[in-house]
Amino acid sequence: MSFAADVRAGLSHHPKTLAAKYFYDELGSTLFEAICKLPEYYLTRAETEILEHHADEIVDCVGTPIELIELGSGSAMKTRYLIDAAFRRQPTLQYRPIDISKSALDESTSALREAYPNLSVDPHADDYLQGLRRLRRDNGQRALVLFLGSNVGNFDPAEAERTLHAVSSTLRNGDAVLLGADLKKDPAILHAAYDDPLGVTAAFNKNILLRINRELGGHFDLAAFEHRAVWSAPAGRVEMLLVSTQAQRVPIDRLGMSVVLEAGETIHTESSYKYDAGQIETLARATGFEVVQRWMDSSGGFSSNLLKRA
Ligand code: TRP
Repeated sequence: MSFAADVRAGLSHHPKTLAAKYFYDELGSTLFEAICKLPEYYLTRAETEILEHHADEIVDCVGTPIELIELGSGSAMKTRYLIDAAFRRQPTLQYRPIDISKSALDESTSALREAYPNLSVDPHADDYLQGLRRLRRDNGQRALVLFLGSNVGNFDPAEAERTLHAVSSTLRNGDAVLLGADLKKDPAILHAAYDDPLGVTAAFNKNILLRINRELGGHFDLAAFEHRAVWSAPAGRVEMLLVSTQAQRVPIDRLGMSVVLEAGETIHTESSYKYDAGQIETLARATGFEVVQRWMDSSGGFSSNLLKRA
């Protein structure tokens, strides 16, 4: 579906929703990079620590020569630990990032080509399922699919299964997935990670309204919305919301519709699911994988899981 069709459907729905993949226009991708540097957003640092210490072991678990495929590669900074580890074992390497953000993909592709003359980069500006469908796997190498950060956490359980199924069907025996999964922890820590005092996460969340204004002729007044992050223990997820601070009616010219919001009404923009070890194993098994190894950062809050086809 297109941005326009998804926005129409999401804002006609009760409760209102907007799909998270649309956060990542050029400004949104830059704001997300800033989130990764916030003191409260521990996820990127935790995963970097794991990759810094265990990239060689991870690559050895899969066996070389390999190619790297990445879902939601963003700036691909963390990927460099795995690229370095692969290059310690093979002279050339193919890297195939799939990312919804063309700007992030263009930037990371040229930076990587410059840093690694023997790296061949095959970028796909697409969502995960389309990108996976378009990948041609005919070089006979093993694949390590990187699904890092908390990318899997942005899917509800059914979508997570669907996505890992799609990954599984592009893989062959011996291929592997490195799955980043943020773990359940003190709700105060989770809340701070998704509602930082500097307001970067709020800006990131509100940017989706700005994008509707710019691309679809929307008339959202950003000052009439507040960012809210709520930990739902029963659902095991942080819910990101935009709260309308007043009753309002917002025309969206290019959709020929007006959105009516009550004071206090919410638009759900994203969930970030938090896992425990058992849930990761269940997800893996349901999609034809087995968790063969797990690494954690020193705080014990984040996990990197190596999945192989069972
Ligand atoms: N994948 C990120 C995560 O779940 C995305 C993210 C971080 C995010 N902060 C956010 C999404 C705030 C929406 C709002 O951690």
